Amino acid sequence: MSSSDLHIVILAAGKGTRMKSVRPKVLHAVAGRPMIEYVLRAAAGLKPTTTTLVVGHMKELLKQGLAAHPVLSYVTQEPQLGTGHALLQTASVLESRTGILLLLSGDVPLLRGHTLAGLLEKHEGSGAAATVLTAFVEQPYGYGRIVRLRGKISRIVEERDASPAQRKIKEINSGVFAFSLGPLYDALRGLAAANAQGEYYLTDLVAAYRRQKRAVETVVLDDPDEIRGINSRSELAEASRIVRQKKNEELMAAGVTIEDPATTYIGDDVAVGADTVIHPGVHLEGRTEIGAACEIHSGTRIINSVLADRVTIQNSCVINGARMAPGVTVGPFAHIRPETELRENVHIGNFVELKKSVVGAGTKAGHLSYLGDATIGENVNIGAGTITCNYDGEKKQQTVIQDGAFIGSDSQLVAPVTIGRRAYVGSGTTVREDVPAGSLAVSGGKQRNIEGWKDKKRGKT
Ligand code: UD1
Ligand code: CA
Repeated sequence: MSSSDLHIVILAAGKGTRMKSVRPKVLHAVAGRPMIEYVLRAAAGLKPTTTTLVVGHMKELLKQGLAAHPVLSYVTQEPQLGTGHALLQTASVLESRTGILLLLSGDVPLLRGHTLAGLLEKHEGSGAAATVLTAFVEQPYGYGRIVRLRGKISRIVEERDASPAQRKIKEINSGVFAFSLGPLYDALRGLAAANAQGEYYLTDLVAAYRRQKRAVETVVLDDPDEIRGINSRSELAEASRIVRQKKNEELMAAGVTIEDPATTYIGDDVAVGADTVIHPGVHLEGRTEIGAACEIHSGTRIINSVLADRVTIQNSCVINGARMAPGVTVGPFAHIRPETELRENVHIGNFVELKKSVVGAGTKAGHLSYLGDATIGENVNIGAGTITCNYDGEKKQQTVIQDGAFIGSDSQLVAPVTIGRRAYVGSGTTVREDVPAGSLAVSGGKQRNIEGWKDKKRGKT
């Protein structure tokens, strides 16, 4: 696409005052992912030579939040004297470079890579000193307005400095620019802070370039939703809604039934197969993959899990880090925790918790159980109230239940322990030793009945 070097700068030093938060604004989540992650993903797609983040306010917390991105370089802006001043701080790393500087904001997460590629193409093609990404919006309040003279951009006026006539302009500055590196830093040093906020506005560069007879171009966006800047919790919620709605539309177009898109929360990175039905109030998060012809009932939350085809999840389950084979049924009210694998046609019923366990094909655990650190074979029946006592106070211990075994209700399997093939565990047994294949384990003495007990007791009181 681009022949010159590309350097991306992302501004994220501002205070984000309107968020009223002790966390950096750009780490707040839009549809489940920090807003800055969207910007970084769009940036990475352009294969830049360098990516620099301008940080300041809460910079340590921000760097911690971005520890997973080792290729970023950071420049500190202290104090924060405006967007022009912020970009000037990158002179130390970029002034000796050539090519194009693409300026993004950490608080404008909905921009698509495709849009940015278009901006760069126009910038290179026209040979302008700067190209501004603009949009026409119905509610321009708060944005910088694009002032044009004979059709060409002449300057950008901020809301607070705009005249009543300028406030009526509906073409706004997205805050995204492509700059040719050549004249940029000298021009930034020439900016003055003669405005309502006493800040060095990057947007004043447009008028400065026009005075110097340098060309400034614009690219107008088709979809103004892309350049929504997030300054408040309300705008955060609105951006999340837009991201979710797009995702739901995509999935429905690909054959997924979503009963009530307004209350269905499906993350960007989630995949769902055709003919799957998703009921209201479902959350699918992280790197989750759902197969075809599944059914996910209301109130269920699935995180980083892989479900094959024809899996049914009943109401109100929490499933995190699990894998399920075709035909599995789970819930209602089940909790499936990380590193759990359910093989074909397994049934997990209500109030069952599983952790770090493999459950063989056709096995059933219908009610009220905890199964942790267990390897369970095929066609095993786990009775109601079965507990694997996997923690001995020091470490986690393994339970093995082999194919065809039957665990009676209200049994405790004290790990480490193995129940052999087709063995039986009687109801209410505390199993402390291995049970050989085909045998019956019972614990506790013989039952005693005390005759006439009820009447004697009543006589006493
Ligand atoms: C800015 C633009 C406005 C545009 C809008 C688009 C200026 C003067 N105004 O306004 O024309 O319509 O974005 O969303 O550029 N930042 C710093 N250091 C600072 C100040 C800000 O790094 O000293 C960062 C912020 O963290 C943020 C970005 O720059 O990521 C924009 O700053 P913000 O204060 O949100 O500007 P707006 O008032 O939204
Ligand atoms: Ca902003």
